Amino acid sequence: VNQTFDHSPLGGKETIYRETLKQLESLLAEDDNFIASLANTVALLKFSFNSFSWVGFYLESNGELVVGPFQGKPACVRIGWGEGVCGIAAQSKQTLIVRNVESFPGHIACDPLSKSEIVVPIQVGGKVLGVLDVDSENLSNFDEIDRTYLQKVVEMLKGKFKNSGREEWSRDV
Ligand code: SME
Repeated sequence: VNQTFDHSPLGGKETIYRETLKQLESLLAEDDNFIASLANTVALLKFSFNSFSWVGFYLESNGELVVGPFQGKPACVRIGWGEGVCGIAAQSKQTLIVRNVESFPGHIACDPLSKSEIVVPIQVGGKVLGVLDVDSENLSNFDEIDRTYLQKVVEMLKGKFKNSGREEWSRDV
C-alpha cells in the first residue's frame, strides 16, 4: 500500500538516471570539497527516486566502515569489514544487489522497513575506500540498471577523495 514506484513517460528509471547524472555532473563541477560532493550526491539521488528510502556512504576508517553523508533515517554508525551487505560488498569489491534483505544472511537491519538494497564499493587502485548504499522499502527494487548508473555515480566521485583530508586516499586517487 505504501509502495512508491519510479515512473517516467519515456523509459522509466533509466531516463531518471540519465537526467540525475547530468544534474550531478554540474553539481560536482561547482566545487571539489569532499564532504559537500558526497552530501549533494546522496541528496540528489534520494530526491530523484521515490523508491529510495535511504541513500548514503559508509567510508573506511581503521578497517571498519563508518557512516558518512546520507539521506534517510539515522543509521548504524559502524559496520565491520565483511559484515552486513555493506561490509561484504567492501570485502569482495563487488556491487551487491539484495532483492530481499530478509533472505540475505548477515544483513544488518538499520531500518526494519527496508526490503531490498544495493551496495556499490568505491574502489581506487585496488583499495576500497568505502561504499555507496541504497535501500528501498520495495522488494526487488534494484536491478542491472541501478548497478550500471550507481557505478557511474561512484566513478564520478572518485576524484573528490583527493580532497578528503586523508593522506593515504590523496595518494591513491
Ligand atoms: N543494511 C546494511 C546496513 C546499513 S543500512 O542499510 C543504512 C547492511 O546490511 O550492511
